[in-house]
Amino acid sequence: MAGITVFESVAAMREAVAGWHAAGEKVALVPTMGALHEGHIALVTEAQRHAQRVIVSIFVNPTQFAPHEDFKKYPRTFDDDCAKLVAAKADAVFFPPVEAMYPAGFATRVLLLGPAAVGLEDRFRPTHFEGVATICCKLFTQSRADYAVFGEKDYQQLKVVTRMAADLDLGITIVPLATLREDDGLAMSSRNRYLSPEHRALAPVLHRVMQELAAKLRNRDDLFKAVADAQNAIITAGFELDYLEARHAETLAPVTSLADGPIRLLLAARIGATRLIDNIAV
Ligand code: PAF
Repeated sequence: MAGITVFESVAAMREAVAGWHAAGEKVALVPTMGALHEGHIALVTEAQRHAQRVIVSIFVNPTQFAPHEDFKKYPRTFDDDCAKLVAAKADAVFFPPVEAMYPAGFATRVLLLGPAAVGLEDRFRPTHFEGVATICCKLFTQSRADYAVFGEKDYQQLKVVTRMAADLDLGITIVPLATLREDDGLAMSSRNRYLSPEHRALAPVLHRVMQELAAKLRNRDDLFKAVADAQNAIITAGFELDYLEARHAETLAPVTSLADGPIRLLLAARIGATRLIDNIAV
């Protein structure tokens, strides 16, 4: 018993949204893959600032996982998620079966350039954003929502989806929300629950090193040396570093000095079997 309206079909969701729109209400969508934590609830709260009605989609999207990634073991906690959404006063959950999103014969993908092809997440997860953009494009057109709220935690994803919504005239405004952090600075993520106690204790190093790097860059330290020192600090702490880079905050293009900014620091690092990503503004 979910305790909240659950739409399992596009038709049911659209009928409700049409009713809300007819009553003059705005609708915001919060796309998620479930395993909701406080960071997601903050997205719902932000959505409620923009719209009278909030739908949270819960769909673990197979096309954004590579074959070796954690699709099968991605946490699925539907009842718990619904309880949190009732408490957060969300209006409805969109919980489609995989056949509704990818029916037999499905043969379309969104082809991305720009911020999706800058050598960050796309270098390590080459098919990831194609899957994210395809599902988001579907969710936006299926829901006909006025707003969709995305966390800055997945910063490249936020830029990719914002670009796509504008480029394809999807008629939806993408609302960004700052990353929610644990008290020790670790960015909230559904994947944090995979961390062993030992790795959980180490994980806040990532945010600490990025903060120190941001302070150095604001202080006009040499960018290449400061970034290299920060990379070494993360490796020395015991992480396998996929990347830690200073990029232009909008285009995600490489930068060579503070003058090329606004700058965003973006990072992905592995500890044990868990891959963590994070980013901060300079
Ligand atoms: O950020 C996520 O949880 C997913 O990438 C999203 C946006 C729900 C698409 O599946």
